[in-house]
Amino acid sequence: MIDGKKVLYSGMQATGNLTLGNYLGALKNWVDLNEEYKCFFGVMDLHSITIRQEPSEFRKRARNLIALYIAAGLDPVKNCLYFQSHVPAHAELAWILGCFTYMGELNRMTQFKDKSAKHADNINAGLYTYPVLMAADILLYQAEYVPVGEDQRQHLEITRDIAQRFNAIYGDVFVVPEGFYGKRGAKVMSLQDPLKKMSKSDENPNGSIYLMDDADAVVRKCKRAVTDSGNEIRYSEDKPGISNLLDIYSGCTNKSVEEAEKEFDGKGYGDFKLAVAEAINSVLGPIHMEYERIIKDKNYLDGIIKENDSQAMYFANKTLRKARKKIGFTDIPRKE
Ligand code: TYM
Repeated sequence: MIDGKKVLYSGMQATGNLTLGNYLGALKNWVDLNEEYKCFFGVMDLHSITIRQEPSEFRKRARNLIALYIAAGLDPVKNCLYFQSHVPAHAELAWILGCFTYMGELNRMTQFKDKSAKHADNINAGLYTYPVLMAADILLYQAEYVPVGEDQRQHLEITRDIAQRFNAIYGDVFVVPEGFYGKRGAKVMSLQDPLKKMSKSDENPNGSIYLMDDADAVVRKCKRAVTDSGNEIRYSEDKPGISNLLDIYSGCTNKSVEEAEKEFDGKGYGDFKLAVAEAINSVLGPIHMEYERIIKDKNYLDGIIKENDSQAMYFANKTLRKARKKIGFTDIPRKE
């Protein structure tokens, strides 16, 4: 608890162009929850280098992500929005927790298998220990809730296992966190292949709606979205294309899937696709406007980054000190 509020933690990597999946699966839920909890939202730049990044592009993306968090509706005064690499405690706790994680556990991680297949020329140790760093992120802030998309479920489970294992040896050092998965949009699928997750790194740009796509691009991509045979707008396993669009529509309008099915009863796929595009654009439009305003205001953004860095460092170091002490590391002498 911080200031009488439970703690919530989440973050995104500063890689590629964010997609509607990142928004509906994570960012939107963060905005919905940010009043109720004491929230820490990281720009996960340490995780980002498990894949090669071009330095100047990477630096820009990381900063832009903070602006995007704010543009999407996260108040940077109430919430702590910060860069993971600015808080050395993340890397330090990750080392410690690595000594409480079994290779057998890491070998089971599906995301490691997927990413290794995609980047066969760079299967580095960081990619393998990625979930340990993620556990450190969450446990440092004693977070109770972690709102993420479905694809992070396995990482949340291993975080809980590591926390429980550590606590069983040393007493209650870490809060054991719960994952929070939204009712809608926890797994947004590709518009070109609805059996595959919508992803920043998709080779086919028509498969993903990027958060920075303009209104015309959104309409074009929705029109081209792969649908199923038949003409009914109904959520069902044998209609993955239409079900995905219904999920997206529901996530963007806050209407339930049942309401959406009723609304489009008797209508054709063409009309439905246009309505989906309109719903997406009504979410993205205001974010674009805010983003343009914030990104131009360098001093404002610098001020926020500085302020929030030290807040994150304060809470992270508190937990790190506790863990160090329990393990039996000698005290670091304080300089006079
Ligand atoms: P990243 O950047 O890959 O994804 C950020 C968030 O977006 C969600 N997401 C999706 N949700 C629904 N449908 C999709 N198609 C889709 N694609 C992505 C992800 O589930 C995630 O919530 N490992 C994390 C970053 C991280 C983190 C943490 C998160 C590092 N440390 C600690 C929470 C707590 C990740 O995958 O980021």
